[in-house]
Amino acid sequence: MDHLVDATGAGAPAPWWKSGVLYQIYPLSFADSNADGFGDLQGIAQHMEYLQWLGVDAIWLSPITVSPNADWGYDVADYCAIQPEMGTSAAFDELVAAAHERGIRVLIDFVPNHTSEEHPWFVDARSSRSARHRDWYLWADPAPDGSAPNNWLSSFGGPAWTLDETTGQYYMHNHLREQPDLNWWNDEVRDAFDDIIRFWFDRGVDGFRIDVCNIIIKDAELRDNPPATPDDPPDVQMFGQRSVYNANRPELHDVLKRWRRIADSYDPPRLLLGETPVDDAATLGAFYGADLDELHLAFNFPFINAPLDAAAMRKVVEHVETLLPDGAWPAWTGSNHDMFRFATRWAGDDPARARAALVMLLGLRGTPVLYQGDEIGLRDVAVEPPDLRDPLGVKYWPAYAGRDAARTPMPWNHASGAGFTEPEVAPWLPIGDTERNVADQRSDPASMLALARDLIALRKQSPDLNVGAYAPIPAPDGVWAWRRGDRHAVVVNFSDTEITLDRISGRILVGTDRARDGERFESPMHLRGWEGCVVRTD
Ligand code: NOJ
Repeated sequence: MDHLVDATGAGAPAPWWKSGVLYQIYPLSFADSNADGFGDLQGIAQHMEYLQWLGVDAIWLSPITVSPNADWGYDVADYCAIQPEMGTSAAFDELVAAAHERGIRVLIDFVPNHTSEEHPWFVDARSSRSARHRDWYLWADPAPDGSAPNNWLSSFGGPAWTLDETTGQYYMHNHLREQPDLNWWNDEVRDAFDDIIRFWFDRGVDGFRIDVCNIIIKDAELRDNPPATPDDPPDVQMFGQRSVYNANRPELHDVLKRWRRIADSYDPPRLLLGETPVDDAATLGAFYGADLDELHLAFNFPFINAPLDAAAMRKVVEHVETLLPDGAWPAWTGSNHDMFRFATRWAGDDPARARAALVMLLGLRGTPVLYQGDEIGLRDVAVEPPDLRDPLGVKYWPAYAGRDAARTPMPWNHASGAGFTEPEVAPWLPIGDTERNVADQRSDPASMLALARDLIALRKQSPDLNVGAYAPIPAPDGVWAWRRGDRHAVVVNFSDTEITLDRISGRILVGTDRARDGERFESPMHLRGWEGCVVRTD
């Protein structure tokens, strides 16, 4: 697979995952090849030409393995078999082959923290206190008054413990009660997951996105979490407690190292991209390992959660620049299947802001991860009962609508069914308006899609833009400008006001105002409100 080995110019070649762009696919909503209203593997394979045209280096597939769908695939009942509605095992192999033929790598979701309650391990574990797999999960006796063993809360609301009436003990779950947490202190659990990892790597999978990998180990003594304090970030205050004992335990690093050793034992080495929902760059840095022997890439949640504001974004990025261990490589994303879409969340549905955000995202030092639809500026779709599918929306509506808004089907065109499914078929989630769709934007050189494609291509051509260092350029309030490597810069005006920027001259390569592409400018540089561009500097 020589075509999969990227060089990035002079010096040692950077690994593909540093110089490349990743693209998250939410398989249920990408493309429905068999007209059942749900996206599937064949649908993804059918759009491989599009992904190659867009220029992405790898796709990450949200779960495709067997699941009763209490949490839409994140409750796994068989780690090594494809969910029948998604396709067959052969369809998966064909998808991987089709991707590799086009130079696109395939990452799949790996969910080690918990299984489905329907996984045979848990079915056995809950059958009796002496069951073969009992200790594969976290069990504890009730408190003397019969209540839960400690005060841990589930991140999906309510206690993190459910009483199992049959055996008289509570089991622990950081998410839904249908998602019992595994006991990662148990060596057999570790061995079983080593086998699962190898199973997929042997199958040709190029890496994993690892679900909530920061919480897999829990305090062995099951100590109570301390209450939140007014100094804690708003989300922690709202939660009411600091997740000190059921998350981010130091012992989890042994497990990450173990997985990394397996990933590195393959040729070419496989990639570990972690979901690491932590609030600060120092904690985030730990997931790369002090010797860079844990995750290759760790998602940055402070970035997703920051407002689209020059000072706020810059602060997050510069924390990462200073606090990540030397050699650790950041990963940046603006949307995913859990958060709202950046075209809505950051940009308030304003296309100009969404375009500026895209220039920022694709101009940073670090690996950008686009979520399907980001490239066309897809906005959230308001989903209401009875259409809600996310268990969180179903449970908390109307206080919280859940995550469906960012999970609706991909609009490939504006026909009925949006090219996602057949016109007569009801899609599993509503499609929303199809005004922004791939077909229209693909034929429009001024579109967001054309901007995304051209920014990706530019990144690919230039070692400065894919692996070059970050250095801020002094800029007026509301503007964030930074150099990339020796000869490139990214300038984004995060305000409505026209601005001028001193000390920079050169040529605009690609920008939000496509009419300016190729324009030479001398200092001071003028930018209109929400204009952003990548520049070749003098
Ligand atoms: C994070 C996943 O991204 C989310 O969709 C899921 O609900 C939880 N982990 C539990 O697996």
